[in-house]
Amino acid sequence: MNEMTAPVTQAAKTQAPSKTLPDAQTVTSVTHWTDRLFSFRVTRPASLRFRSGEFVMIGLMGDPDPATGRQKPLLRAYSIASPAWDDELEFYSIKVQDGPLTSKLQHIQQGDQIILRPKPVGTLVHDALLPGNRLWLFSTGTGIAPFASLIREPQTYEDYDQIILTHTCRDVKELDYGRELVEKVRGDDLLRELMGDALDKLVYYPTTTREPSAKMGRITDLLRSGEIFADLDAPPLDPKLDRAMVCGSIGLNTDIKEILEAAGLREGANSAPAEYVVEKAFVG
Ligand code: A2P
Repeated sequence: MNEMTAPVTQAAKTQAPSKTLPDAQTVTSVTHWTDRLFSFRVTRPASLRFRSGEFVMIGLMGDPDPATGRQKPLLRAYSIASPAWDDELEFYSIKVQDGPLTSKLQHIQQGDQIILRPKPVGTLVHDALLPGNRLWLFSTGTGIAPFASLIREPQTYEDYDQIILTHTCRDVKELDYGRELVEKVRGDDLLRELMGDALDKLVYYPTTTREPSAKMGRITDLLRSGEIFADLDAPPLDPKLDRAMVCGSIGLNTDIKEILEAAGLREGANSAPAEYVVEKAFVG
């Protein structure tokens, strides 16, 4: 069996972080999904409050400066993939072999420490959208991370009649994190107890662009052609009813914005809620 066929997870009981690093948190589990993707969970600072969909800066100490021997933290923005009620924090990351942070971060193991600056921010939050009926969560690659948080957040189901999560990746295996997550959400006893049938509002629409799968194509093309609406037996975008959150590469974000604006949706922010919000997925 190829070692990447099944995700490899290491898990440990939550340990209290020791404070050898500034803002240190302890890694509790790591799952390698493919040779390009992994997720991990860390302890949550007791004081950290965040809204599902927000991001924080996380990282490791950089290499020592050759002249002074001093090390500086190497930090990047990462969406929190776990919901606000979870007692740990989850992150989903790409592995870039020459990426300053992810070339190192991909080797973390349970019990290791990472740096986590406890100042959550971001626009992919319910507060940045006006009330609506249907919520679209458009993601590519690791851009699914903030939506992994939002689809585990009860408010998402309270605020909308339907939630459509789209996830586009190059290959089938790259969809695994999202697919397992959706299965877990649907089968989660606690969420089911809290939300009842409201959980069935979640629609999952995975597509691939390079490896053949049940549904192929860039989400932008599927929107422009109307194929997605036919597949879901759903009406086209309507600014009075539809709300959207977008998280992917710059190209994806730009192209989806154009489609949403053409349909009459306007970009919102925490200070001025509107019909859609966008954030770039972390890469590097
Ligand atoms: P494609 O294979 O056609 O480039 P990546 O792994 O490079 O981050 O890409 C993730 C997914 O996002 C891929 O399926 C890729 O499709 C798709 N993608 C990249 N750019 C865009 C874009 N501008 N609009 C829609 N989908 C995009």
